[in-house]
Parts: sequence; C-alpha cells; structure tokens
Amino acid sequence: MKVLITAGPTREPIDPVRYLTNRSSGKMGYALAGAALAAGHEVILISGPVSLTPPGDTDILRVETAEEMFEAVASRILEADAAILCAAVADYRPAEMAAEKIKKSDDELTLTLVKTPDILDSCRTEFGFDGILVGFAAETENVESNALDKLRRKGCDFLVANDVSLPGLGFDSDDNAVVIYAKGGSPESIGPASKSDIAAEIVARIFA
Ligand code: PMT
Repeated sequence: MKVLITAGPTREPIDPVRYLTNRSSGKMGYALAGAALAAGHEVILISGPVSLTPPGDTDILRVETAEEMFEAVASRILEADAAILCAAVADYRPAEMAAEKIKKSDDELTLTLVKTPDILDSCRTEFGFDGILVGFAAETENVESNALDKLRRKGCDFLVANDVSLPGLGFDSDDNAVVIYAKGGSPESIGPASKSDIAAEIVARIFA
C-alpha cells in the first residue's frame, strides 16, 4: 500500500522576516511515516518546516505554507491508498505579505487574516480521493463532539483526536494520548505512550 502523510506546521508570511505558525514539531507525522514504512508500506511525506530527518525510504515533499501543502497533497493523493493528515495547518494567513519588513511605528498594528484552503475537507470533494482517509483533530475542549463532527463533515474513515490541553502530551512532545474514532465503530483510546508506539497502533488499525 502507498500512504500519503502530512506532518508539521505551516508558516504563513507576514513580511520577509516574520510569519504566523504553531507549536507542531512534526514528531507525530514523522512517527507515522516510520510506522508505515516499518509495516511494509510506501510513504509520501508532505512536511511543513521542521528540524527532523525523514525516516528511511520516504518520498519527501517539503512545503512552507498551507497553500503549498494543499498543492502538494492535490498533486500526489490520487497515487495513495490511504492518506493521514496529521499536519497542523494554519486556518488563517495574512491577507497580504508586506514586500518590506514592517517598521515599528504606532502602538497597535492590525493584521487582516483570510482563511486558508481546508486540505482534509478537499480530499473527497475536490481531489476525488476514494482511499482510506484519516484526519486528526487537535482540541482543547469538547474533544469528542468536535472529533465526531470533523469525522462526519470531512468524509473521514478515521479521526484521531488529540486533547492538546494535557501537559507533556500533544504538540512538541515525545509522547501523546489519542482517541481513534472510526466511521460506524466504537472509539479506541491509545496512550499515554510514545508517538512511535501510537503511530504503530494507528497504522495497524487503519489497515486492519
Ligand atoms: O507535530 P507534533 O508536535 O508531533 O504534534 C502533533 C499534533 C498535535 C500536531 C498532531 O497530533 C495533531 O493533532 N494534528 C492535527 C492538528 C490540527 O491542525 O488539527 P485541527 O483540528 O486544526 O485540524 C483538523 C484536521 O484538518 C487535521 O487533520 C488537519 O491536518 C486538517 N486541516 C486543518 C486546517 C486546514 N486548513 N487544512 C487541513 O487539512
């Protein structure tokens, strides 16, 4: 099987020296790539800017912005049997990137943000992907209801919910704890455990 995985954050430029981003380190997505390879699958890894080395024989595409990640997924997803969208994609970007470094002047500075494309949402509707689709959800409240809502609205087969309010787990840590919601199945909690153990469980579960 061939698996497309997105990992890491995106960076949305404000001016030539500044950007908006988030706390994703890429560890969960890279662990999924390692687990998929170890299970004998081929991997296309679409990675935001992180300081990790991709595992083994990964076919890696490096991107910076949500728009670039959208284009990279669009260009490769139809080759894949399964897609796991683990990246923490910015939901908004600055409406315009200033051509020059913004100078400090007034006490307040207002940035206008516009929505980025929703890559997960586009997999079924825009890209025509009919393989196994796995979304992630990073939540700080109402984890179950938000996860079930994303599972249904975005046409996923599985939704991996992350309660990112728990100390030492989730963003930029070596460990995680997740609940996997399957379309029409009962939820399964995994962890707290290392991201590599959790990744192995996710890969085993979606190909079971
Ligand atoms: O990278 P680490 O430091 O190891 O941290 C791992 C993690 C916390 C980033 C990861 O486990 C995780 O939860 N990833 C999803 C983060 C996220 O952006 O969740 P969300 O609830 O905002 O997005 C829901 C889903 O839509 C995700 O599959 C996301 O990839 C996708 N999405 C979101 C916005 C967007 N514009 N396009 C998308 O495809």
